[in-house]
Amino acid sequence: MFDVEKVRQDFPIFKVTINGKPNTFLDTAASAQKPQCVIDRIIKTYGSEYANVHRGSYLLSEEITSAYENARQIVQKFINAKQKEDIVFTRNATEAINLTAFTWGRKFLTKIDEVIISEAEHHANLVPWQVLRDEIGFELKICRVNDDGSFDWDDFCSKLSGKTKLVAITGMSNVLGTIFPIKDIIASAHRIGAKVLIDACQYAVHQKIDVQDLDCDFLAFSGHKTYGPTGIGVLYAKYDILSAMPPYQYGGDMVNVVTYNSTTFDEPPARFEAGTPAIVQAIGMGEALQYMMNLGIDNIKAYEDDLAEYAFGKLNKIEGLKMLGTHQSRSGIYSFVIEGIHPQDLAFILDKEGLSLRVGHHCAAPLIRRMGYESVLRASLGMYNTKEDIDILCNALQKAKTFF
Ligand code: ALA
Repeated sequence: MFDVEKVRQDFPIFKVTINGKPNTFLDTAASAQKPQCVIDRIIKTYGSEYANVHRGSYLLSEEITSAYENARQIVQKFINAKQKEDIVFTRNATEAINLTAFTWGRKFLTKIDEVIISEAEHHANLVPWQVLRDEIGFELKICRVNDDGSFDWDDFCSKLSGKTKLVAITGMSNVLGTIFPIKDIIASAHRIGAKVLIDACQYAVHQKIDVQDLDCDFLAFSGHKTYGPTGIGVLYAKYDILSAMPPYQYGGDMVNVVTYNSTTFDEPPARFEAGTPAIVQAIGMGEALQYMMNLGIDNIKAYEDDLAEYAFGKLNKIEGLKMLGTHQSRSGIYSFVIEGIHPQDLAFILDKEGLSLRVGHHCAAPLIRRMGYESVLRASLGMYNTKEDIDILCNALQKAKTFF
């Protein structure tokens, strides 16, 4: 059973008051808070285990190499990858998508090809494809989302063609909270021979991932959103695809034989991890994913689904509140405006009440505009949030309305 009060004890940040008020943190979609075990593991690794990986023939280096590679194995388990060699450590999900675009994309996309993304993509899964399109000349097609924030299946099917080489799509919108039907999207894309990349940044926080069952070709997520440290992310790809991809960056730890004239490159994943990697961050992310798995991904999901439904119902009862994305296939992200109040003013008032919410375009400016706004407020849930947090938010919004 999932005991939220026990879970909250694991997160020291909730002992900190904000503007003299209890800490009501509702910005997990931007970055999640960290449990004590992750903080402890980082301190322990720097304090008594630290050395460089893959280099030394001494105890510290051997042991930390094992810990780093063990973190890769934890990621493998977290997403049920076939083997740990399918996991590349990157700086974050943005780097994982850029790596895919500028290695696989640059090698395999041509100007007669088409790439499909959706209107709901974060800039990280839009801008790299725009830049690559400008370089190569392929067509970048943008699949619509419906007004309720759901995936427009008919529009997707009309855009999918024999020319489609890649579908790069989010699993869960960081603005709308909508869960996209990624298993069906992947199956449809595969039927016409296209590869599929899933941006799982938000999806990984709230949903169970099984890359073998999904059969996606690439999947990206960030450590800092899954309760781990910043500076570490994951690119999963099927091994035969990784093997066909050229390196992303060049330097130490990704080579076989180097002479003054030429160099041969290592196999994946080392081929894509040039230079000293984010060792401690990878180990910290492993600790965070293990923490999630120890609690049980299904238990976290069941708890969050109930909380998300409560939040959706309560927020929608507030007069004048307009929510972006009302489709029922959704999880705990709510972007909204309150008629007559600028979102920035609202965020300022909420902050004074100890509430942390993000305001702006949420790195998805075209989507916010497509939904009819320039800036919106966003509340996003993590496993540590409670119904009381939602009540505090709704009461603060009601209070804020009286100021205008
Ligand atoms: N991608 C993060 C967000 O949506 C930063 O807030």
